[in-house]
Amino acid sequence: MSKACHRIAAGAAEQSSIEVERETGATRDFSQRGTNDRIEWRADALATMKTALAIYPGSFDPVTNGHLDLIERGTKIFDRLVVAVLRNSEKDPMFTTAERVEMLREATKQWENVEVDVFDGLLVQYARQRKAQVILRGIRAISDYEYELQMALMNRKLEPHIETVFMMPAEAYSYLSSRLVREISNLGGTISGLVPPTVEARLKSKSQK
Ligand code: PNS
Repeated sequence: MSKACHRIAAGAAEQSSIEVERETGATRDFSQRGTNDRIEWRADALATMKTALAIYPGSFDPVTNGHLDLIERGTKIFDRLVVAVLRNSEKDPMFTTAERVEMLREATKQWENVEVDVFDGLLVQYARQRKAQVILRGIRAISDYEYELQMALMNRKLEPHIETVFMMPAEAYSYLSSRLVREISNLGGTISGLVPPTVEARLKSKSQK
């Protein structure tokens, strides 16, 4: 576990202290105790935490470096992250579902806690079926917010037990989208540095056809 992850986990453990006390019936007063006690208590509390499974849904037509930035951030916060590709997300996608999955698997193979899957129908139904607690979505700019808020609140209405967590990709990717990548590639522009090399090669061969 990275230092950052430890800090987040410790923070989460702190939040769950009430739950721990409720479950164990123990009232712990740490105000008079030292750092070691506190660390021990945190490890204790962490052991009672549930495993967090997050779903990162999207069209991924194709996966960009912005998506990968968010996936990497997600791997540090959640125990397991399922990147879920919506089948037939658009009437005329550039890549087939199988191609999108293949590119994602290739680009995420470095993270052991990442799985790539496909889903149909309602996202919350899929999340329920996978027993996920969290839906992860990226927000690049304020312009994303309105749509994402609407979707998150509707998903909460449909399934109140699943939380949507928003994360921001690195600033360098704040203007990047799959739609722009497709357009630039189709018009012969350069997309290097915007997508992983495997995606770049596939885009080039599609655009040449
Ligand atoms: O990458 P995208 O296109 O922004 O992803 C959108 C996606 C796939 C997350 C969204 O369209 C979705 O969840 N579709 C599944 C159908 C659904 O659940 N619709 C109700 C959303 S409130």
